[in-house]
Amino acid sequence: MTRILILPGSARQGSLNLRLARIAAACLLAAGAQPHVLDLRALDLPVYDGDLETSGGVPAGAATLVEQFAAHEAVIVVSPEYNAFPSPLLINAIDWATRLPAHKAAMNGKPALLASASPGPLGGLRSLLVLRNFLSINPGLLVLPQQFALGQAAQAFAPDGSLADPKQQASFEAALQALLQMAQRLRA
Ligand SMILES: Cc1cc2nc3c(=O)[nH]c(=O)nc-3n(C[C@H](O)[C@H](O)[C@H](O)COP(=O)(O)O)c2cc1C
Repeated sequence: MTRILILPGSARQGSLNLRLARIAAACLLAAGAQPHVLDLRALDLPVYDGDLETSGGVPAGAATLVEQFAAHEAVIVVSPEYNAFPSPLLINAIDWATRLPAHKAAMNGKPALLASASPGPLGGLRSLLVLRNFLSINPGLLVLPQQFALGQAAQAFAPDGSLADPKQQASFEAALQALLQMAQRLRA
């Protein structure tokens, strides 16, 4: 079973991105994979501050995050867009993780799928460009060309938790399949 780490960039109650992350988890389970949705807000990860690192070292949450990357074969990041940028919750968590040398073995070359959801028409698409650079360049994740941006997301979810528009559901599932296939190819 392919182990997939899912990182929602928002942990707020009613988060659209968290809802999309849960759809990803349900689809992956149905496809025979083993998804794990990680709550970044639950980790010990204060806002990055070099003085804090000098005085207290890297917080325990960073090691937990790196361990989670190491324990999974692929990653899905589902982040909100704030002013055309990925969320501070996500950026801060990854910044801390990169302070640990072990992040290289845990993240380098690991396939990653990007997704976002927004009440706006573009679905957070602009932030995915930034996120692609951010996750590829230093952590070295292998970010797939496929991605998924869910626009008008406040109206996009069906009562059963899937996407109301079957075309959108199929498009998201195709992106998830591409990630699964890449993970399986890399394992072989
Ligand atoms: C400071 C701030 C900036 C935002 N900027 C954008 C933006 O650039 N593009 C966009 O589509 N939505 C933007 N939004 C709206 C978010 O997409 C919306 O709040 C979304 O629901 C947040 O994700 P969540 O539901 O997963 O928590 C912004 C929201 C805030 C609070």
